[in-house]
Amino acid sequence: MQVFELIRNKRDGHILSAEEIDFFIQGYASGDIPDYQAAAMAMAIFFKGLNDEELMTWTQAMIHSGDVMDLGDIEGYKVDKHSTGGVGDKPSLILAPIVAAAGLWVPMISGRGLGHTGGTLDKLESIPGFQVQLSSERFREVLRGCGMVLAGQTEDLVPADRKLYALRDVTATVASIPLIASSIMSKKLAEGIDGLVLDVKFGRGAFMQDVESARALAKTLVSIGSRMGKQVVALLTDMNQPLGTHVGNSLEVIEACEILQGRVDNDVAQLSFRLAAEMLLLGGLTEDLDGAMLLVDELIQSGAAFRKFQEVVTAQGGDPRTLEDYGRFPQAKGVAVLSAPDDGWVHGIACQAIGRLGIRLGAGRTKVSDPVDPAVGFILHRKIGDEVKAGDRLVTVYYNDADLADEIRQPLIDCFEISDSPVTAPPIVLEKLGVEDVS
Ligand code: URA
Repeated sequence: MQVFELIRNKRDGHILSAEEIDFFIQGYASGDIPDYQAAAMAMAIFFKGLNDEELMTWTQAMIHSGDVMDLGDIEGYKVDKHSTGGVGDKPSLILAPIVAAAGLWVPMISGRGLGHTGGTLDKLESIPGFQVQLSSERFREVLRGCGMVLAGQTEDLVPADRKLYALRDVTATVASIPLIASSIMSKKLAEGIDGLVLDVKFGRGAFMQDVESARALAKTLVSIGSRMGKQVVALLTDMNQPLGTHVGNSLEVIEACEILQGRVDNDVAQLSFRLAAEMLLLGGLTEDLDGAMLLVDELIQSGAAFRKFQEVVTAQGGDPRTLEDYGRFPQAKGVAVLSAPDDGWVHGIACQAIGRLGIRLGAGRTKVSDPVDPAVGFILHRKIGDEVKAGDRLVTVYYNDADLADEIRQPLIDCFEISDSPVTAPPIVLEKLGVEDVS
């Protein structure tokens, strides 16, 4: 088989056979096919797409480019959640302990921040001692002991995606629905789960900015999962403004701890509870969503979900005292409170720009090898729909470099679009898509 011919066929809009796709993915994962040919193939797919059969084969080939976790010896329902990424996106930290406290298994493999979005692993690593890189034996031990585990992808899990994703990132081929969907689903299906809840975001801080593209991606994800025999649902959720109030690594863990202790009820609490409830429903713990929401509330009010978080943090080497004594997190050297320039209502927030300013401050990375600063970030005091008076607190900046804090001051204030007429905050969940919506 000639790689050149496969690329040419896809470029000309032909359908690739299963053998051709297997040959291509295995060849790329093993290093036999060079990056320049893989980049050309990614671009051909970007323009010509993959049909349903090709997409299934492509996803299967990605899954089998490495090890597939076999959790068959752990009896019971295994469920995970995947988010397409955003700013202040911390539901994993909240919902995983809730769902594990309810008795389902949560073998969660997460990623690091890239682009303007944050990553769960970076947030967890702000807890002193917390280990995210676990061997597969340790992964199982923590899962067995706590009912959940929060870890990074191992070397052997979907190696084809690790290479292809890095290549797409630098060849302008990320924003392709078949490539995104196969990338996400190959990693999730290699985890050995039974059910998956997808948080597919749309809006100014999301990958897919318009609802239509987010819906198309959600349908493709649900269709791949259900054709592979998994239970999958997707929620389309609003990412037009940062989720919750805290943006930055330790700051987001702190907000998660407050929510897990029932002290804060905001958009990110509501989204996390809803996603957790969908996971409980998939696992058959309740008959309907209302019952699942009640169960989530009980697990928060009783303290069971927060205790579960403390338990898993301890099991993964973290200092659990940090979760109640926030002074134990790495501390920023300086704090600056920025005020609103005008009276009015917050109409919009330049969400992606806030993510990028966070990176500028050190909270995220622009390339995979960059370090992240666990202490820096923002607390937003106003969100869309809130009234504001000139001089009111708008946002607090936690920084380690005073020059950088000065540099981002005005751009950060400019992220808040204030107008003189009232506006209503958007609903956090727009719709739910299940298998019946894609078949
Ligand atoms: N997340 C992934 O894991 N893969 C993509 O291609 C895009 C987002």
